[in-house]
Amino acid sequence: MNIAVFASGRGSNFLAILNAIDARILPAQIVVLISNKSDVGAMEIARAHNIPTQHLSQKMFSSEEALADAMLEALEKNHAEFIALAGYLKKIPARVIRQYCNRIVNIHPALLPSFGGEGMYGHRVHEAVIASGEKVSGATVHLVDEEYDCGPIVLQKTVTIAQNDTPDSLAAKILKIEHEIFPLALKAFAEGRVRIEGRKAWIT
Ligand code: GRF
Repeated sequence: MNIAVFASGRGSNFLAILNAIDARILPAQIVVLISNKSDVGAMEIARAHNIPTQHLSQKMFSSEEALADAMLEALEKNHAEFIALAGYLKKIPARVIRQYCNRIVNIHPALLPSFGGEGMYGHRVHEAVIASGEKVSGATVHLVDEEYDCGPIVLQKTVTIAQNDTPDSLAAKILKIEHEIFPLALKAFAEGRVRIEGRKAWIT
């Protein structure tokens, strides 16, 4: 399976995917890394692994349509069959989502459908979880549709929140399981083991 990774930041999930490919756990290739930032960790990781990179930001285009054209061109040029959003903080143009319907997944650092939606990213998620007094949090891999964090859930794993956990310590615990479940979810797609029916998805 030819995967395009979209990332806006440090790229630790991107690296976890690359490591799973190198370890022959994930039968796939990363064909391009697309980022809205030219100088982030994810871009460095791609360059170090000789993976093609494409810097595409809305700021470079006059409309969402023009950005969608550029993204689709980059995806087609690199023969991408699947998209993994690994810490991508911008909205994907609707036309790209439609073109890759049921072939785009995102990793979210909480147990969706709770603690998701627009503006719920990074530290804010863990702050909200701790403030709510929850005893459990986790990570979610879900399909991407045109609404933030709303597509069918593919895989989740939980962590226990300790009484002395802070947003930082919780983020670190969850990042570890993100690195486990994201490659596993992609593996299930690559092996044709993900069933999707309406709003439900599951791994067989
Ligand atoms: C992760 O916590 C992921 O769940 C969220 O953004 C963060 C990206 O981290 N969507 P990294 O860039 O993969 O290290």
